[in-house]
Amino acid sequence: MSEKPDPMTVPFGTVFCDWMATAPSDDGVYQYAGKVEPYGDFSISPAAHALHYGSAIFEGLKAHRQIDGSLAIFRLDDHVARMCQSAAQLRLPVPEEGLLRQMIIDSVEANVEEVPPPPGSLYIRPTLIGTEPNIGAAATPTSEALLYIVNCPVGDYFKGGVRPLTLLVEEEIPRTTPQFGMVKSGANYAMALAPTLDAMARNEAVDQILFATGGDITETGAANFFLANDERVVTRQLDSSFLHGVTRSSVLALAADLGYEVEERPIELSELQEWADNGEAFLSGTAAVLSPVGTMLRGGEEIIFGDGQPGANTLRLRESLVAIQNGSGDDDHGWRTAVRS
Ligand code: PLP
Ligand code: COI
Repeated sequence: MSEKPDPMTVPFGTVFCDWMATAPSDDGVYQYAGKVEPYGDFSISPAAHALHYGSAIFEGLKAHRQIDGSLAIFRLDDHVARMCQSAAQLRLPVPEEGLLRQMIIDSVEANVEEVPPPPGSLYIRPTLIGTEPNIGAAATPTSEALLYIVNCPVGDYFKGGVRPLTLLVEEEIPRTTPQFGMVKSGANYAMALAPTLDAMARNEAVDQILFATGGDITETGAANFFLANDERVVTRQLDSSFLHGVTRSSVLALAADLGYEVEERPIELSELQEWADNGEAFLSGTAAVLSPVGTMLRGGEEIIFGDGQPGANTLRLRESLVAIQNGSGDDDHGWRTAVRS
């Protein structure tokens, strides 16, 4: 393993593994050489479609070191399926699922020595960009594309480990457009950036913006939103306006397994105080894992959940998720894909 900073102490996503997998396409069919190559820069045309018209999507999933020393990717097939759906939405050539799956596995197996032990993991970033050199192609799809997988050894996404986060509720500026929120495209993150930075500049304590356009609570800039108490786990029902988190669906399944009543429904802003008094809130995501929310800021109001510390139900759900991810819990849902370690 080459000399690199300790991934547990540097910001998430800033250390890159030695190997990557790439597959270009110039006719809708991706050409993968069947083996990884050294991580490094590549060149694309200054006129590439992705640079001008935003034809770029990505995924985020993790491989986890198991307690028996082996390695497993969490919900590989679900992430592959979501990436293909995102590609179709942007009219990028859709990769064949088996190929994308194999490229991800190859990249993980090649970088196996760089996977940190828990609570660290290997973050996998499949990426797909339109590369056709054509600045007239504003209203036509790219005919050429590049699919590639890069990996990062990572620790916590939120600095400070499992700690109560502060969310600022944004009721006016949407994260993205209602029909596009479910697409994992850089464009959505670009649109959310200015309002996020503006809000954070006004309040240094804010960890994430919770987008609740016109009172419709959807998600934060990097995770889905949940409420919980001893009986119920609640999150917003799916539609095209926000990302259908794989972790979100895992939490719902695990909550049902643990005997919670699961509700997927609109969440009213007016409910928050009641939940703060008698319940908990948390975020879910591949990077965020399951992160407790301690405080929500809405206008001039400060809503503090419980005593502001992580709630028992949040921690229970987190533990059951992490147990499946690290191999200490039974994989009843078939979420782990073992890879060669
Ligand atoms: N919402 C947004 C905007 C995200 O960036 C993420 C992270 O991927 C999520 C939700 C959670 O999705 P997942 O659980 O699939 O990682
Ligand atoms: C993920 O959790 O995979 C994400 O894409 C969040 C990203 C902002 C790091």
